[in-house]
Amino acid sequence: GKGEYDHYMAKEIDTQPTALSNTIEGRVEDGNVAFEDLPAGTFADVETVQFVACGTSYHAAMYGNQLLRSAGVRADVLRASEYDQTAGPVDENTLVVAVTQSGETADTLDAVRKATDRGARSLAVTNVVGSTAAREADDAIYIRAGPEVGVAATKTFSSQAVTLALLTQRIATDVPTATPVEDREAMLGSLADLPEHVETVLETTNAESLAREYFDSDSYFFIGNGLGHSVALEGALKFKEITYEHAEGFASGELKHGPLALVTPETPLFAVATGGDDEKTKTNAIEARTRGAPIVAVAPDDHPLADAADWQLSIPDTHPVWAGLLANVQLQLVSYHAAALLERPIDKPRNLAKSVTVE
Ligand code: F6R
Repeated sequence: GKGEYDHYMAKEIDTQPTALSNTIEGRVEDGNVAFEDLPAGTFADVETVQFVACGTSYHAAMYGNQLLRSAGVRADVLRASEYDQTAGPVDENTLVVAVTQSGETADTLDAVRKATDRGARSLAVTNVVGSTAAREADDAIYIRAGPEVGVAATKTFSSQAVTLALLTQRIATDVPTATPVEDREAMLGSLADLPEHVETVLETTNAESLAREYFDSDSYFFIGNGLGHSVALEGALKFKEITYEHAEGFASGELKHGPLALVTPETPLFAVATGGDDEKTKTNAIEARTRGAPIVAVAPDDHPLADAADWQLSIPDTHPVWAGLLANVQLQLVSYHAAALLERPIDKPRNLAKSVTVE
């Protein structure tokens, strides 16, 4: 049950430290990534990776895709519902990674079936043991987030992104032509601190006051670049799903190519900075601020973006790969509190279902 919480979503946001500890448990040893049942060398024949997913899982897949590409492995992230039209060449050296919390999403299952019919090898990254995706794929990796009841995916996004980040390091170790990420050791080393950093965010967040100030705005925009882009898209999806307010996420640099026309003093803009290369996020946030939009920096304390903003949602200092996930927790909290102020049925938003079994 939801115990002391008003909603499952609140509980699921709050239990992310434990969920993440379970996700990580036993998977990093001596600086190497180990997955149960998938011995070293498992991915040695892989030439191309295609991530397929929908909705929130697609945003987690974007994370994996960027990390894999930066390790020199050919990778793509495809909307499962568009797989037919966008997949391109596939063969037995293609690994299709289905990212699906439920393991039952029809679009995702369909994409995997099409890929495997054409000879690809498949891997399901899922939360549900024994789900259709886990049973049908050649291999499965579980994100171990525990059951998620709220329709809006929260803890499972965090656990998916961590699992995929680990998977990319496993693949990059196996694939002979890959070039391991330069600071891989630092990245894997700081993962152990992630559950504690999430706890810090949960304990110190000012998301409720922020939601109170802005919950009756016209529209909400979310920007970020690199890994921050996936967090911006996820922040906007969560916000629209449970508040029913208009929210959109963009790659920071895209803001000036159209969306800027919508920016007014009534459209708060959330700028996600990870402490990596956030220059475009900063310049575009300042551009929006010049048009009167309130700017919310989701950023570490000493970040230049925080000075340029009206509000800050603070994230602990950590490796940029994990910083995006901390920013995402802050955005989950903003969505939750805004939806609560608007008295929305948070755990069961209208028209939505937890798993979408129709195409
Ligand atoms: C958003 C949400 C949906 C799902 C999507 C894929 O909060 O829950 O966007 O992420 O329907 O579902 P799975 O991951 O079960 O394939």
